[in-house]
Amino acid sequence: MANRNPSTAIPPAEQPFSTFQRACTERVNGQLERLMPAEHLLPARLHQAMRYATFNGGKRVRPLLVYATGLALGEGFERLDRSACAVELIHSYSLVHDDLPAMDDDDLRRGKPTCHRAYDEATAILVGDALQSLAFELLCGDEQVESAHRLEMVHLLARASGSRGMAGGQVLDIDAVGRRMTLPELENMHIYKTGALIRAAVQLGALASEAGPEQRRALDRYAKAVGLAFQVQDDILDVVADTHTLGKTRGKDQAADKPTYPSLLGLEGAREKAAELVEEALAALAGFGTAADQLRALARYVVARGH
Ligand code: IPE
Ligand code: IPE
Ligand code: MG
Ligand code: MG
Ligand code: MG
Repeated sequence: MANRNPSTAIPPAEQPFSTFQRACTERVNGQLERLMPAEHLLPARLHQAMRYATFNGGKRVRPLLVYATGLALGEGFERLDRSACAVELIHSYSLVHDDLPAMDDDDLRRGKPTCHRAYDEATAILVGDALQSLAFELLCGDEQVESAHRLEMVHLLARASGSRGMAGGQVLDIDAVGRRMTLPELENMHIYKTGALIRAAVQLGALASEAGPEQRRALDRYAKAVGLAFQVQDDILDVVADTHTLGKTRGKDQAADKPTYPSLLGLEGAREKAAELVEEALAALAGFGTAADQLRALARYVVARGH
């Protein structure tokens, strides 16, 4: 498919992953800056807190997935921007709520005090609510994409965020505290709490780029494997990384007695599982040419990352 917007093309697939990552991060940050309510708008404290929770050094992996999927399908930045923003807003909201005292009770996020620490609990709850609403507002108003596609995009992001996606997975996570889980139960929890949104990122990129059904199926197989690998690596990093590098408190899973891949399989077992998932992700892209090289690099990055 020809690139519809060559003037704002995503860096080509043959660029180093770091170049692609930097360009996509700058792009999504610029778009979020433009699309989020300004800090001085009333209620100013809520808008400040929404920005605090969004512009704070996140890796922007989900926007990267949207853009890399678009690149694999010959798309430019414009048609992907709002999908990239929407999925990052849902993710940022999920982190604000994940850190609340009633959930993981964390003080540090992305190297700064968590939203409820920097502001207060009520504000953090409302920040989550408002970020979630904004995500759907942005998708609905995406004039770059035909309305039929837009409807499907809203539908899939809503489903991925809700009780049959991320929020449902968070419930499984809370219910798991102090309980032994089987490996299939743990996998199921990870697929919901983290995998669903990662899968949605790829599906949004595919829909905005008008992928065919066969391409969408292959990309979805890729995304399922990457989504699970992402949370396996998150669990590993909770054990092996340090708080400063992580930007969040190390050792929280063990302290809270949460079942994780390292706790069930040991560190080596968890690493092997992550490596297997990367191979699965790469195999799913076998039908794509070099245009999908950034998606391939992203799969490798997900398990090689140090934070
Ligand atoms: C952390 O996500 C929470 C999980 C879903 C595993 P990220 O590791 O993507 O967090 P940020 O956005 O880079 O801070
Ligand atoms: C978070 O999982 C999943 C979400 C839906 C936010 P974790 O609780 O492991 O994420 P971190 O480690 O706090 O970032
Ligand atoms: Mg959690
Ligand atoms: Mg947490
Ligand atoms: Mg974690």
